Amino acid sequence: MSRATPDDLDFETIAAQGGTRVPLGDTLSTVPPISASTTFTAETIDAVHAALTPEPSGFAYARNANPTVVTLETVLARLEGADDVVAFGSGMGAIQATLLALELSPGDAIVAAQALYGVTRSAFTQLQSFDVDIRYIDVFNLESVADAIADRDVRALYFESIANPLLQVADIEALARIARQRRIPSIIDNTFATPYLCRPLSVGVDLVVHSATKYIAGHGDVMAGVVAANSTWARRVRAKRTVTGAILSPFEAWLTLRGLRTLPLRMHRQCSTAAHLATWLKEQPWVERVYYPGLADHPQHELAGHQFGGLFGGMIAFDLRAGRAATLAFLDALRLITPGTSLGDVTSLILYPRLSSHRTLDAEQLAAAGIGEGLVRLSVGLESVKDLASDLERAAHAAGLAETTMAMHAKL
Ligand SMILES: Cc1ncc(COP(=O)(O)O)c(C=O)c1O
Repeated sequence: MSRATPDDLDFETIAAQGGTRVPLGDTLSTVPPISASTTFTAETIDAVHAALTPEPSGFAYARNANPTVVTLETVLARLEGADDVVAFGSGMGAIQATLLALELSPGDAIVAAQALYGVTRSAFTQLQSFDVDIRYIDVFNLESVADAIADRDVRALYFESIANPLLQVADIEALARIARQRRIPSIIDNTFATPYLCRPLSVGVDLVVHSATKYIAGHGDVMAGVVAANSTWARRVRAKRTVTGAILSPFEAWLTLRGLRTLPLRMHRQCSTAAHLATWLKEQPWVERVYYPGLADHPQHELAGHQFGGLFGGMIAFDLRAGRAATLAFLDALRLITPGTSLGDVTSLILYPRLSSHRTLDAEQLAAAGIGEGLVRLSVGLESVKDLASDLERAAHAAGLAETTMAMHAKL
């Protein structure tokens, strides 16, 4: 299955050919070169000065622009259907520059989704010390969003396409429309969905941020972030990158480009394995509940199907029929699936949200967020579905979960 883009080429083709045929003297390289230079010169001093502004009209100093980074940005802009993409040394660098680009003043407010990546929340908390108000709302209730952004002091709407850890799916087009009606920018963190599943700019979102550390680079060996936007927003974001010094390094840009070439293949496979595993997990007596947008009982199943073109992502969460000690024993007993705090890697990674992504929440906040003692979050990698299922089953037995639940069922 190919995914169309507004370009004349499909997503898979643009990704696979990303950054190839770069002129090198009289020849063309088939792989983009890594341009390590911090400083660029030209034949005349006028040309050296002309390269400084407006960015990135040329190359002068590598904190402003670098050829390998620009190659990555150009490929990603085509994949996102964006005028421009700005690349950073991490997802948080991208998010921070986006917030700075809003040029907020004391007394301004941002309306943000309740379910947000924890460090993004910390970035918002830091904004509060500049007297910026952050109002957290339930973005799955569209009426409450319209009400929350009606106030004149609200300057932006911020949300994630697929929320962590329970994988609720935001109605991207509807949220963008509500923000446009109020003439405020909408910002989406599209890390979990990737541009392969959806391109939010095409439905009216203003700024798309990604932790490219995750699926886009995909191999667990790069920290990177990107912002995709129209040229006006991208220029503002790029100016913030220059003053924060948060540009992506040339080597990391090169690794990200290399990972990006197989994004469609990896995503397709990870979505398919996740769908199989989610269905299998649902049948296991030691599993209480499975959260996966591809399951018919997921609250936004239909929306997800339409919005993500029939794919549902590579992330699954599930509640074990277990308390904290047995859940931790289950995680310890896994042999293939690796406990780890990241996601979107070729290797399957699992974490316990109460002790990792959501460790700063108190008992009341955990209950409100629906994060129980038996909840685990799984980022499905490229291993075979059979081996992953065997690993989970073996761990359930080792932790005594399978026996306990069978005994419970026998009693009933
Ligand atoms: C949804 C989401 N956004 C942003 C980030 C931050 O990205 P990075 O770790 O690349 O700074 C993460 C990291 O886990 C994330 O999961």
